[in-house]
Amino acid sequence: MRVVLGVSGGIAAYKAVSLLRRFTETGHDVTVVPTDAALRFVGAPTWAALSGKPVTSQVWDDVERVAHVRIGQQAELVVVAPATADLIAKAAGGQADDLLTATLLTARCPVVYAPAMHTEMWLHPATQANVALLRSRGAVVLDPAAGRLTGADSGPGRLPEPEALYAACLAAVAAREGSTGAGDLAGLRVLITAGGTREALDPVRFLGNRSSGKQGYALAEVARDRGAQVSLVSANVTLPDPAGVVVIRVESALDVQQAVASRVTDHDIVVMCAAVADFRPKAYAPTKIKKTHDPTGGPGGADESAPVIELVRNPDILRGLVEARGAATRPIIVGFAAETGDAGGTVLELARAKLARKGCDVLVANEVGRHLTFGQDANTVHLLFADGSPERTIGPATKVKIAEAVWDGIQALGHRSTDSNPID
Ligand code: CTP
Repeated sequence: MRVVLGVSGGIAAYKAVSLLRRFTETGHDVTVVPTDAALRFVGAPTWAALSGKPVTSQVWDDVERVAHVRIGQQAELVVVAPATADLIAKAAGGQADDLLTATLLTARCPVVYAPAMHTEMWLHPATQANVALLRSRGAVVLDPAAGRLTGADSGPGRLPEPEALYAACLAAVAAREGSTGAGDLAGLRVLITAGGTREALDPVRFLGNRSSGKQGYALAEVARDRGAQVSLVSANVTLPDPAGVVVIRVESALDVQQAVASRVTDHDIVVMCAAVADFRPKAYAPTKIKKTHDPTGGPGGADESAPVIELVRNPDILRGLVEARGAATRPIIVGFAAETGDAGGTVLELARAKLARKGCDVLVANEVGRHLTFGQDANTVHLLFADGSPERTIGPATKVKIAEAVWDGIQALGHRSTDSNPID
């Protein structure tokens, strides 16, 4: 996507550097257009080095290629971060006295403003009227985050964190393309686990479960179709590899843990859809366990008692991800819960408790039983959100429809994430 990053003159200009990197690292072509004032906070060499393009604030450079018109015309997204009160006023008034304001007049793509200023300036009726005017013309003007400002004061006026800005930009483009249409996960890197682990007892036997991997594969295919870069950690699934998805084949819970741990930092979202065994045999028998495992006992020389398999706990991978993330907001972590309901509660009650216990952002709970869910094409699930968003029930629906709804829920979560960093 051809992105124009407009930067106006506020202290938060330094945060736009991270936003620029986020766009370039996810393969977007970014032209940075700072104002003169912005260049007093972050210099042109920084923008040029990180965007790989020449940078100017003026309409007097690159005149032969009519830059003041061309940059806006060719843009597929313009984001102004930070947008000062002055820049917002100029944009609302249709002024065009530098390259950024000229670009804003010529752009016909989605335009996102991320205001950052002191609370008094933000709340001033002049600024509020300008913001309302821009919004009425179709621009996306984000609300500033509340928190500590440059001086000792605090209140609304902070620039949201780069990750939140990035998500808002993708959402603005997706909204223009038609809400949940293709591409609304563009630029996001998604790691999904699917299938069911096998915990080996001996060279021919294992402890396993009934997971087919269909739901995880549907999640991968839908995410891919919506523009995400998808890696799929696949545990013992017989389905064909989805095209355009990186598939990593694993067998046991420890394999899943290793595959996830080595990739998690490169991903924005981790979806733990695999049915991971909670326990594994304490010892692996390197040769096949015989039914006459104790040749000294029992009639005829064979022991008729059954061998006892001692189990040990597997690591809880989902909890480990949540703990490793700590106070950070990324990656978004999604868990699945296969519940049968029992004396301790209904499926939904058990799922609420599991959401709290695991600490993930979203829990997708489904009712399982021997003839329910596993291997079937249709299913009913409950979506539970840690941020208090209303629970949703989806189905009975195909696993593809459920995957669509799960991604809708995750995407909405990305939009709701707010700035929690106390220092601007
Ligand atoms: N999970 C995991 N590591 C494990 C077991 C499960 O990461 N060792 C993940 C699964 O991928 C799923 C979620 O945890 O996203 C829920 O798994 P489930 O087995 O239903 O929950 P448990 O924590 O095992 O809880 P319980 O057995 O008490 O229902």
